[in-house]
Amino acid sequence: MASKNHTVNENSIYNLLTRYSTMDICPLHMPGHKRNSQLLADNLPYNIDITEISGFDNLHDPRGIIKETSKIADALYGSNKTFLLVNGSSCGILAGIRAAVKHGDKIIMARNCHQSVYHAAELNALQTVYLLPKIDQQTGIGGSISPLQVKAALDNNPDAKLLVITSPTYEGVVNDIEKITAAAHKRGIAVLVDAAHGAHLGFSDYFPDNSIKSGADLVVHSLHKTLPALTQCALAHINSNLINHQKMAAELAIFETSSPSYILLASIDNCLRLLLKDKDQLFKTYENNIKCFDYAIKDLKNLHIVCHGSNYLNNHQCLFDFDPGKIVISTRETNLTGTILANILREQYRIEPEMAGSDYVIAITSICDSKDNFKRLADALIAIDQAVIPNKSIKTMANVLPRQLMRISEALDLNGTLIAFADATGMVSLEYVWAYPPGIPLLVPGEIIDKNIVKQIHSFVSAGINLKSSFGEMPRQIKATSV
Ligand SMILES: Cc1ncc(COP(=O)(O)O)c(C=O)c1O
Repeated sequence: MASKNHTVNENSIYNLLTRYSTMDICPLHMPGHKRNSQLLADNLPYNIDITEISGFDNLHDPRGIIKETSKIADALYGSNKTFLLVNGSSCGILAGIRAAVKHGDKIIMARNCHQSVYHAAELNALQTVYLLPKIDQQTGIGGSISPLQVKAALDNNPDAKLLVITSPTYEGVVNDIEKITAAAHKRGIAVLVDAAHGAHLGFSDYFPDNSIKSGADLVVHSLHKTLPALTQCALAHINSNLINHQKMAAELAIFETSSPSYILLASIDNCLRLLLKDKDQLFKTYENNIKCFDYAIKDLKNLHIVCHGSNYLNNHQCLFDFDPGKIVISTRETNLTGTILANILREQYRIEPEMAGSDYVIAITSICDSKDNFKRLADALIAIDQAVIPNKSIKTMANVLPRQLMRISEALDLNGTLIAFADATGMVSLEYVWAYPPGIPLLVPGEIIDKNIVKQIHSFVSAGINLKSSFGEMPRQIKATSV
C-alpha cells in the first residue's frame, strides 16, 4: 500500500497551511469565519481556509508556493506550463478557447463536447462546425472521432481557428489525438483537448497515453474526477506556442474566482505530490484490481461491459481506444434500461454508479478504489446477469445532428416564446436541451427542431433520462421561434 506521507514535504501547501493555523496569528482578513473552531462546531476545515494573504502566493500571478506546485504538474505530465484551476475544467475550457481564438472566429468541435465548450462559443460569437462521433452499435455510446473526419472538416473549413476534441469522453472513449493533432498542425491550427476525464492517463502503460504526450496544444484535466483531489480541482496545461501563456492567464482571471480556496489548492498540491512519489505502485495496484474485476466478470452472458472481461476493443469498430478505469455496463441485450440497472445497483447492492443512460450505466473507478469495491461491483453484476431476461433484439442508432440555421449567439439574441414541445417541429430552438449528466447538448440554440431530434428526445424521456433545458421546461415546453 502506498504511504500516506506524501505531504511530509514541509513546503507542501497543506503543511504550510496547517503550520500557519497553529501560529496564533489574528486573521484580520477574509474568509469571514476567521478559522474560529470554537464558534464553528463542525468538521469543516476552517483552520486552513485562507485566501491570498502574505506568504501564500497569488493564483493569478504565481511566484512562490503555487508556482512550485505548477512546476510539479509540468514535471509529472510533461507539459510546458500548467495552470492550477479551482473552478473545475469548465473555467480552463472557457479561458482556453478565448485564449486561442478571436471574437466571431470559426472553430471545429466534436459534437459530444461538454457544455462549457458551447458556452465559450456563445460568449465569443463563434461559428461552430461539428464533428459527429459514430454510435457504437453494441452499446449506444458515442465512438471516437476519426482522423479522417478531422481532415475532411479541416479541408472544408480552411478558415477554422481551433479544433476542440473530448478525449477520453465521459464514457471512457479515447481518440487518436496524435493523428488528429498532426492533421491540425499541418494547417497551423491549435488543438484543445478536453481531457476532464483523463487526468489519470499516461502514468502507466496499462492506460492510454495522455493527450499532452500525443501533442495537443492545450489539455484540461479535472483532477477531481479520476484522481484523489477535492471537487473543482483541475489543471490546464499549455504545450506549444500556438497558445499564448499570458493570454491564457488573462482569460483565467475572467473565468476563475479572485478569492481562490487554499483548501482546493492544497488538495491539488497533495494529489500531485502523491503521484510524484507513489504513482508506479498506485497504478500497479489499480491495474491489478481492474484485471481481477475483468476476470471475475468474464462469463457475463447478458450484460456487456465495454472493453472489460470478455469484451475487447476489437469488438467495437468505432472506438480507437478505451480507458480501462471506466466501467460502462451495457443493458442492450437485456430487459433492463440503464436507469433500471442503476436503481438495482443502488437499492439492492448499495452501489451508487456515476450515471445511467438509456442503454448503459457508467461506473468511475480510480486508484483510490479498494479491491473490495471492485469485488462488490463484480458480485452484483454476476447476480444481476443471472436474473435478467435476455433480449437480443438489435437496436440500430444513429447520432443526430440537427440543421444549424445561425450561430448560438445570434439565436440567443432573438425573442421567442415558450411553446409546447409537441408543436415545435420545424421551428428554431432558442435554448439548449441536454441530458444531465454528462451535460452534452442534444439541441443547441439556432438549430432546427426536426423529426429526428424530436424522436431522439422522446426516446431519452421514455428511458427515464434526466433532460434539462436552459429555461427548465423541457420536455413539456421549449423556447423557439419560427424559421
Ligand atoms: C467531458 C467533460 N468536460 C468538462 C467537464 C467539466 O468539468 P468540471 O466539472 O471539472 O468543470 C465535464 C464535467 O462533467 C465533462 O464531463
